[in-house]
Amino acid sequence: MTGTGSAGRISRVSGPLVEVSGLAGLAMAEVVELGEPRLPGEVVAIDALRATVQAYEYTGGLAPGDPVAARGAPLSAPLGPHLLGGIFDGLLRPLAGAGPFLRPGAAAAPPGAGRAFPFTPRARDGDVLAAGDALGAVTVAGAVPYLVLVPPGAAGEVRGISPAGDLPAGAIVATVGGRPVPLTGSWPVRTPRPVAERLEAGEPLRTGQRVVDLLFPVTLGGTSAVPGGFGTGKTVLLQQITKWCDADVIVYVGCGERGNELAEMLTELSALADPRTGGRLADRTVVIANTSNMPMMAREASIYAGAAVAEHFRDMGLRVVVVADSTSRWAEALREFSSRSGEMPAEEGYPAGLASALAAFYERAGLVTTLGGRTGSVTIIAAVSPPGGDMTEPVTAYSVRFVRTLWTLDRDLAYARHYPAVSWEGSFCRDAAAIGNWYARNGDPGWAHRRERLAAVLVQADQAAALAELTGATALPAAQRMAILAGRLVREGVLQQSAISATDASCEPARAAALADAALEVADACGRLADRGVPADLIERQDFSALLRAKEEAATPEQVRGRAGDLIGRLSSLEADREGGPRS
Ligand SMILES: Nc1ncnc2c1ncn2[C@@H]1O[C@H](COP(=O)(O)OP(=O)(O)OP(=O)(O)O)[C@@H](O)[C@H]1O
Ligand SMILES: [Mg+2]
Repeated sequence: MTGTGSAGRISRVSGPLVEVSGLAGLAMAEVVELGEPRLPGEVVAIDALRATVQAYEYTGGLAPGDPVAARGAPLSAPLGPHLLGGIFDGLLRPLAGAGPFLRPGAAAAPPGAGRAFPFTPRARDGDVLAAGDALGAVTVAGAVPYLVLVPPGAAGEVRGISPAGDLPAGAIVATVGGRPVPLTGSWPVRTPRPVAERLEAGEPLRTGQRVVDLLFPVTLGGTSAVPGGFGTGKTVLLQQITKWCDADVIVYVGCGERGNELAEMLTELSALADPRTGGRLADRTVVIANTSNMPMMAREASIYAGAAVAEHFRDMGLRVVVVADSTSRWAEALREFSSRSGEMPAEEGYPAGLASALAAFYERAGLVTTLGGRTGSVTIIAAVSPPGGDMTEPVTAYSVRFVRTLWTLDRDLAYARHYPAVSWEGSFCRDAAAIGNWYARNGDPGWAHRRERLAAVLVQADQAAALAELTGATALPAAQRMAILAGRLVREGVLQQSAISATDASCEPARAAALADAALEVADACGRLADRGVPADLIERQDFSALLRAKEEAATPEQVRGRAGDLIGRLSSLEADREGGPRS
């Protein structure tokens, strides 16, 4: 049911909200084109006589009486091989590479225009296929294998399949059960793509960031929120994960954040070689840019567009990570709409639908069996920027409730230049048990115990430090002083990780485990010495720099273990010296 063909007119414009009349048969969430520049907008309220449309671009220049046309479909995104390596706006229209600016109403070039995609068929005419089965593959150098699948809802006999060769983005690959299957399909972004089955997650996403991988991991198919005050390192952490995590495809949604930051990241990405494919990292990244200098309104759609893109690649059996920076800027767009529409605001001016809109985004994550029987995942990682660092504000509070993993960035840690400033008190991982089991079956049975020990050391160090503030450090019992020392070894030797280090920006799981074990073993050795009566200040005065610098200098787990062994040997000579020397 659409309004195509009837004569619609604008009756009122108020900022991004446009009232439209004369379009019979419009449906909720349908997309319409406003005025001569055909600005896209989405129907957000409707009655018998008129509809309210949320415009996705600046409405400057629109006036009552201007024509309106209905597209006859809900907000949909073109999904095809052109996505890999591309940069798009919040509605998935291609943006020019360098400066992410968007001209209002720019009649966007069709996706992938002018490009040819090398297609290899994997099915033959006469084959009978179901939704999710592969018709063929597109191989773009450096990128992940791209499968052309029978879309949801289609099934039947294959006819007219394209032979091997270059296809334009708009090509029809075959008909399946009489239905043409284009190389570039279209999908309504707010509707999750169907799957055969959702699976229990347990395998962690390896991020290369030690504090995440050792303490607060996120599963493949899991969700993580990164709340943090101004300048605490949200964008740097998200970009580190984008560069180093072991996903097949990354969908980076720059949502209301600074355009220059995004431009810098794009430059870095295209310079980074991809260790897994030999191409460029950018070739398996999809960037959706709706930075603070672009119309606020497409921001609202951008995170759903990102989810739809992620599900598209998931359906090929890939591991996809959606990184969104930030959901607070996205929520601002919701607030803007709701204040314009005169809707009764709920908490802090946000619409009553904030929680369900946020939940609808996080629910797009998951580890699944796809319609075609492959295993794929969408992992969602999103920054939250609570105004004034207030963690009780609605966007943060709802995010904390919906996610499985939380990385809270701490202002004091950031101020002390402890990066990544992930707070061990304020963060959590609800899947730690499942991840521990996964590691136990996959070569690291010590993972769960190591995690518990690291957490215990950090908590005991904080308690001892709080006590030291009252009594002075030298008045503390030796055991407490060793707890403080152990905390320092773990914080500086393991958790701190510089994003700009040439050797340590990313850390392999085995090296992270070796660094953690080294810090714990040295801390244990110090504790034993103190137990046996070696004076605490003598232990504290020892040179631990070989251990603390191992993260930068020791390239392999063996080298890390070597350093720890040397240091422990040196420490035990303290006791031997005492035993050998005159007894007091
Ligand atoms: N892992 C890291 N290694 C080195 N420096 C870091 C790291 N994380 C953060 N920083 C430093 O902190 C600064 C601020 O980080 P970032 O821009 O990511 O903060 P933010 O939380 O995104 O800020 P905003 O609230 O403005 O968006 C960086 O420019 C960098 O100097
Ligand atoms: Mg930022």
